[in-house]
Amino acid sequence: MPIAIVSLASLLGCLIVTTMLATPTKTAPRYTVYRTPAFRSVAAEPSHAKLLLKSMPPAAAPSANNIVMMNNKPNEVMPEYYISASLPVASQGVVRIKMTNPMSKFRIYINSKSESSAGVTPLYCLEVNETSVILLNHNNDALTSVLASTSDRKAVREKNNDVYYWLSLDKKNSVLKYGKGEATQALTLLRYDVPVGAFLPDLKYVGLSVSDTKIMTKVLIYELPVTFQLPPNVISSDLVTLDDIENGLITTIGNLPTECQMLYSVVAGPNVVLQNDIATAIQLSLKSGELSKFLVKKAQDHKCKLTETYIRVTLGMDQGYSPGIPFVLELWPTGHNSPIHQHSGAFAVIKVLHGSINCTYYSDLNPAITTPYLDCNFPTGGVTYLTPSLYQTHMLKNKSTTDFCATIQCYRYASDDTTHYEYFDYLDDNNKRSRFAPSTDFTYTELKNLLKKEGLLKKMK
Ligand SMILES: [Fe+2]
Repeated sequence: MPIAIVSLASLLGCLIVTTMLATPTKTAPRYTVYRTPAFRSVAAEPSHAKLLLKSMPPAAAPSANNIVMMNNKPNEVMPEYYISASLPVASQGVVRIKMTNPMSKFRIYINSKSESSAGVTPLYCLEVNETSVILLNHNNDALTSVLASTSDRKAVREKNNDVYYWLSLDKKNSVLKYGKGEATQALTLLRYDVPVGAFLPDLKYVGLSVSDTKIMTKVLIYELPVTFQLPPNVISSDLVTLDDIENGLITTIGNLPTECQMLYSVVAGPNVVLQNDIATAIQLSLKSGELSKFLVKKAQDHKCKLTETYIRVTLGMDQGYSPGIPFVLELWPTGHNSPIHQHSGAFAVIKVLHGSINCTYYSDLNPAITTPYLDCNFPTGGVTYLTPSLYQTHMLKNKSTTDFCATIQCYRYASDDTTHYEYFDYLDDNNKRSRFAPSTDFTYTELKNLLKKEGLLKKMK
């Protein structure tokens, strides 16, 4: 039995396709798979951006003129503006801010007080400018304040783009991290290992120096810091071995948020399978039958490539807690793929019922981001997930040249989501952001009836 489990774990193994830009100065701390990163922000967007706006007197806001000055001042102390939310745990957590077209450099502060440090009191400060990113321990860029920096172009400010920038404080492991996109280890772009015992304690308040608060379109605060990369592979807790815990390549459903656990409890059972006769019938119909014709028409209707189509077979009804009907059997002919897309900020669980599916993950949905940071294959029986803050942007592809793939996908909005955004945003063939309402091609009963009508499935099924 252990051999089979290890084999499954290795089949589910991931390949990280980007690397950290800053080489860690010491070996990263190891964690078991039972450590859970924050999935839910403790400060909902965009309310805190609005709060900041209120706290920032218009007259005090930096003008276009003094922005230019700021960019040229040596050892510059920038004005600090504090939002009303704070880190739930002192010197621990993540501040993640979406900046839209920032036209000048900006700084993010984590301070022990919600008042200006004036460049004198120590704090942690992240400066993102056009040519570099700097971690500072004062609100000035004197050499004595610089903890770490990078000039890698992937890390610097993007003045014509809409990007999440995040700063993670990890007091327990004495590490500061910076990254873009989802706040996760694989997207870390700069890291500083604070000397043991020197980590600033009691930092709670979040401040910013920005040219215009309107550029901050989302502000999120997470309770836990960025530590290890929680893998996208879920296996049953009955199968977890000591090696799995040590290697950290899998996780169990108990590690994931309640919404994922609810979905998993419906689809993970051994009887949620695609029976052989139905799978054979689907294979034949996709090859040259009614399902094949349906996809040709779907491609024409949607004005997309045939290889960018798949069939959505819904099960049950829309109960109001998900974008579209929550349970969807998706049929992927050989070589077909989805566009890069997001899932309405919802939670999802995906189980492979037939063949295998390849998932590539992206730091955000953005025309400028077409290179994945993670690439995983999930074989039949494999289960994966996504959350509002982790693995939310992905592309699915059936890479097989011989066999179709069937997955069951299920979705659920976060329990604190009061928006219920009904669309899946995606990048279209012209690499432009678009959206579609998740719809039904067939119900499961209609699919079986179609296959029966084609003579591919027995009537009594
Ligand atoms: Fe998806």
